[in-house]
Amino acid sequence: MLRLPVFTTLLGLAQATAGELHPRNVSVSPYFNAVSDFIDNIQDQIWPINQEIHENPELGWEEERAHQLLTDFMQDQEGWRVTKGVYNISTAFVAVFDGDANQAGPVVSFNAEYDALPQLGHACGHNLIASSSVAAALATAKIMQEKGLGGKVVLFGTPAEESLGGKIRMLEANVFTDHKIDVSIMAHPSTSDTPYAITSSTDRLDLEYIGKEAHASASPYEGINAQDALILAYNAISMLRQQSVSTDQIHGIITSGGSRVNVIPNLATASFQIRSNDEASLEVWTNRLMDCFEAGAIATGATLNLTMRPYGYANMVTNEVMAKSYAKWFTGVGGTLPDPVVDKLREPAGSTDQGDVSHAFPAIHPFFEIVTANGTVPVTGPHTTAFEVASGSRPAFERAMRAAKGLAGVAVDILTTDGMMDDIREEFETQNLAKRLVKSLYIQRR
Ligand SMILES: *[C@@H]1O[C@H](CO)[C@@H](O)[C@H](O)[C@H]1NC(C)=O
Ligand SMILES: *[C@@H]1O[C@H](CO)[C@@H](O)[C@H](O)[C@H]1NC(C)=O
Ligand SMILES: *[C@@H]1O[C@H](CO)[C@@H](O)[C@H](O)[C@H]1NC(C)=O
Ligand SMILES: *[C@@H]1O[C@H](CO)[C@@H](O)[C@H](O)[C@H]1NC(C)=O
Repeated sequence: MLRLPVFTTLLGLAQATAGELHPRNVSVSPYFNAVSDFIDNIQDQIWPINQEIHENPELGWEEERAHQLLTDFMQDQEGWRVTKGVYNISTAFVAVFDGDANQAGPVVSFNAEYDALPQLGHACGHNLIASSSVAAALATAKIMQEKGLGGKVVLFGTPAEESLGGKIRMLEANVFTDHKIDVSIMAHPSTSDTPYAITSSTDRLDLEYIGKEAHASASPYEGINAQDALILAYNAISMLRQQSVSTDQIHGIITSGGSRVNVIPNLATASFQIRSNDEASLEVWTNRLMDCFEAGAIATGATLNLTMRPYGYANMVTNEVMAKSYAKWFTGVGGTLPDPVVDKLREPAGSTDQGDVSHAFPAIHPFFEIVTANGTVPVTGPHTTAFEVASGSRPAFERAMRAAKGLAGVAVDILTTDGMMDDIREEFETQNLAKRLVKSLYIQRR
């Protein structure tokens, strides 16, 4: 269903016409028209970049073309200082715009993602993330310059979001702390609109059961069946699912069993992803699953080799003060949002390395609905072919530009509203931000 808002010209809504994607509620902010005009005017320069990234998908850590395109574009913008391949991370970048040096002010930052998925291309729409963060950063800098505001606007090029933890590597390299950011802002395409990203804490692991080969007919009693160990563990997990809450998830694939039908398999392998509400509950859930993995080994005598992959992701913690600012701007440009009370009761879905950023700095990661060229929502969601097709459409890009007005709005509010940064910090300090408990470990045991 297409959810274009029906706007009228009542209540101080200047220049809005019915069905228009970007109507304007000028009561939102004195800077409302300036931000909206800027993004309306620059979007045709960003559109070809959006398309070039979409049509040339690159996997995490290999985004050379996107990195080049985006840094070239930012270098052409007046007043921006661009560092390519920042901190030896070849496809990451930082672009900085300085405010009035005679005044103190917050450092507002945006994250631009641009990696794609194996086989599926831009089925997660990260081209739209790059476009919206670039547009929002430039619009914020424009206001900063025109109004002579203090502070800084920083745009980070953050590669390898898909399972590879690009932002975590940047956190560990102190890229964000060295730039003294006060807040981190970005948005992600989706099948509905919300200022509140509710995502799981997650870890990935690789399992190996190592058994002992034997002739399956002549001497099976000499063998240790690694495949049986894996099947037992899989079944134990399947049973555990009934006794676990829906937010404790595990999904996985068996990647190998035996290789010959008449030989007792001496190696069986699988990969799993574990998710839970937050860092603390993920640890409890992980321990329950460990018992299932071990059960397979104990019952069969196989050796369990379990490797946690580096860079599990923390759950996203949305800063409420920033989310409210986004909601005000986003509805001001014609977006519709669910009732926040109901919206925040959603269960988590998916995971992002912006979650780890949100444990280190006040952050937001709103989702914005996209549509295909014919105006339909790709309801199958991200990581599907339909979403990949939609991500390359002009209507989806228009939605990204509308979200960009909301993102820029948050930054402009922070730069121009006395006390807002204090409120954001105060909220951040009272949030229970657990440190990552299970980062990466290597376990080998019976
Ligand atoms: C316009 O924005 C103001 C300030 O956020 C808000 O109070 C008002 O309800 C908005 N008007 C409409 C019609 O949404
Ligand atoms: C980048 O790599 C070079 C060469 O390995 C090293 O000398 C330098 O210290 C590194 N810089 C950073 C910021 O890590
Ligand atoms: C354990 O599994 C990891 C990941 O699959 C593999 O790299 C490693 O070689 C394995 N170790 C042993 C002792 O089998
Ligand atoms: C709209 O476009 C999508 C993507 O090309 C397609 O899958 C879908 O069937 C189309 N829907 C209609 C109603 O034309």
